[in-house]
Amino acid sequence: MKVGVFDSGLGGLTVLKAIQEVLKGAELFYIADTAYAPYGEKSVEEILKRCDDITRYLLETHGIEALIVACNTATSAAIKHLREKFPFLIVIGTEPGIKPAILKTQTAQVGVLATPTTLKGDKYQLLVNELANIKHVTLYEQACVGLVEQIEKGETHTKKTFEMLEKWLMPMKEKNVDTLVLGCTHYPLVEETIKRIMGNDITLIQTGDAIAKHLMCLSQNKGHKNEGELLTHVCYTGEINHLMIEKIINNKTIKVRKCAI
Ligand code: DGL
Repeated sequence: MKVGVFDSGLGGLTVLKAIQEVLKGAELFYIADTAYAPYGEKSVEEILKRCDDITRYLLETHGIEALIVACNTATSAAIKHLREKFPFLIVIGTEPGIKPAILKTQTAQVGVLATPTTLKGDKYQLLVNELANIKHVTLYEQACVGLVEQIEKGETHTKKTFEMLEKWLMPMKEKNVDTLVLGCTHYPLVEETIKRIMGNDITLIQTGDAIAKHLMCLSQNKGHKNEGELLTHVCYTGEINHLMIEKIINNKTIKVRKCAI
């Protein structure tokens, strides 16, 4: 089983890590599209083109059978197109975990952190409308402009990152928000900084584990036997912070190299 996973940069490694915890007997090819990061402030057309190019590369170079779009922004912009264009592939996207947040909150006040493109997308609006009937919950949406760049630089714990998050989160704290949806795969990497602001009791919702489970189900339906070694390759298209890769996936045996897509 060959699986392609991609994001604009380091964020999707939070999803890759969840997949590595459950998948065996497979080869994972991760693309960090850092030459074109961040996606969250680009047009839908630009993001769609990158998603298409990366998927074709993964298919032609590595013969992948499954594709994980480990990015909320790219999912919002391109998942429909990818499913239509590559119907023979297992295609799994990433969506903000609004439903688990609605089910978890005790105060009925939920914060959603995401990129501007994700929050503006039809997909997000549809998801929110669909879930509106489950329970009456107030959603506080915040587009975190500039946060992905801070994380890519490895600035997960710096004063500047703390202050950016503080400015967005303090109004939510004052409204009694007890659950926060991390609607961008980069944001689990600033979990500790978020907790310093919101307190340790805040519930943070991320979807890496759910994606990994979904992949297991779909691949086993296609006959994948989950046995044997798991190999992981990480490729990046621009520059990347190698220390951050080691910190996130904590596995020095992974091969990391630059590639042109
Ligand atoms: N990690 C991505 C997401 O989940 C995109 C971040 C970006 O490139 O703006 O939305």
